[in-house]
Amino acid sequence: MGFRKVGVVGLGTMGAGIAEVLARGGVETVGIEINDAALERGRDNIESSTGRAVKRGRLSEEAQAQILGRIVFSTDFAALSDCDLVIEAVPERIDLKEKVFAELDKVCGPDAVLATNTSSLSVTEIAAATTRPDSIVGVHFFNPAPVMKLVEVISTERSRPEFVAAVTELVRDLGKTPVTIGDRAGFVANRLLFGYLGPAAQLLESGEAGKEDIDASMTAIGLPMGPLTLMDLIGLDTCLEVLEAIHRDSGEARHEPAPLLRSLVAEGALGRKTGRGFYTYEKAGSGSVAGSTEAVEGKASSEISDRLYGPYLQDAAEMVRSGYCDADAADAAMTLGCGFPVGPITELRNRGQWAQ
Ligand code: 3HC
Repeated sequence: MGFRKVGVVGLGTMGAGIAEVLARGGVETVGIEINDAALERGRDNIESSTGRAVKRGRLSEEAQAQILGRIVFSTDFAALSDCDLVIEAVPERIDLKEKVFAELDKVCGPDAVLATNTSSLSVTEIAAATTRPDSIVGVHFFNPAPVMKLVEVISTERSRPEFVAAVTELVRDLGKTPVTIGDRAGFVANRLLFGYLGPAAQLLESGEAGKEDIDASMTAIGLPMGPLTLMDLIGLDTCLEVLEAIHRDSGEARHEPAPLLRSLVAEGALGRKTGRGFYTYEKAGSGSVAGSTEAVEGKASSEISDRLYGPYLQDAAEMVRSGYCDADAADAAMTLGCGFPVGPITELRNRGQWAQ
């Protein structure tokens, strides 16, 4: 069907990244925020992300201006009325999502596809807030959206197949790799990733290992960043919401949010975006850790990496054996969605521990 104009509701970390990906792909984009201050922050996010590419010589100033020129910024949902696809990317709270979808139901045309970038909430439940649940699909990008190649496309029991196909095609046109899956808490990538991030936070909480050592142990085996650095990048509020949603579904101890994570979120220490999370950063939004004491190099330990990586591999094996997802989806989730150098099933195969 081809999408002419696409709206993005919420221009936080993910929404701004998604709007950038769309505009880079030549798609006319409408970015919506709740008030002028949030809209300004969203615009800044996109300007600094594309500005960084200009500084590195990856993008010309002219191309940056064209990308920014393709995005209309507004605080009025009515600006979405002629969009043929709208992607919601507001914080992970079902009440907020339902409110946004009820609003989209009113302003969007009858043939518009309505998508949610939810990380772990039920797409089916979000769809129930509208009078057209068959128009709703999930489209789950990974942070940073301009960099990570995977996009999970979630189809509910009610989603119209032609809408799912059109969104999948758009994802491919944007240079990403779509993986189409059913509506299950955490889908594939977060289900696996948070089964590893949750225990990393629990290990820190236990006092048995320091944050730098935990992170260093995982980068030492080739992961692009340590689990606590990654949680700071994702946003600790999002991490908490995702863990809670998966834990509600699985009941597994490894998905239970560490009290330390809860208290950081309660204090407003949400990670990079607020300048403090597990680490303290030079300024909000920065990836540079501040101060000499915080920047201490960790000491890698195979005891720590075995303790976190081994159960993650077993979890992936169990997900594939139980039919939750196939081996290719598990591998793509972790390599293309989370930058792991090798997918879990390939890793097990390499170790001679996967016979199928
Ligand atoms: N926006 C735009 N581009 C960015 C960026 C950002 N925020 N961060 C990095 N980049 C680009 C850089 O410009 C650079 O591109 P270039 O090579 O063309 O110049 C490239 O990415 C590599 O960046 P750096 O050299 O600065 O840094 P690294 O090599 O350390 O890579 C990383 C950074 C890509 C973030 C890498 O560390 C990584 O893959 N980390 C894992 C991220 C991950 O797991 N994401 C998934 C989280 S889960 C999720 O999002 C789901 C949600 O539901 C919770």
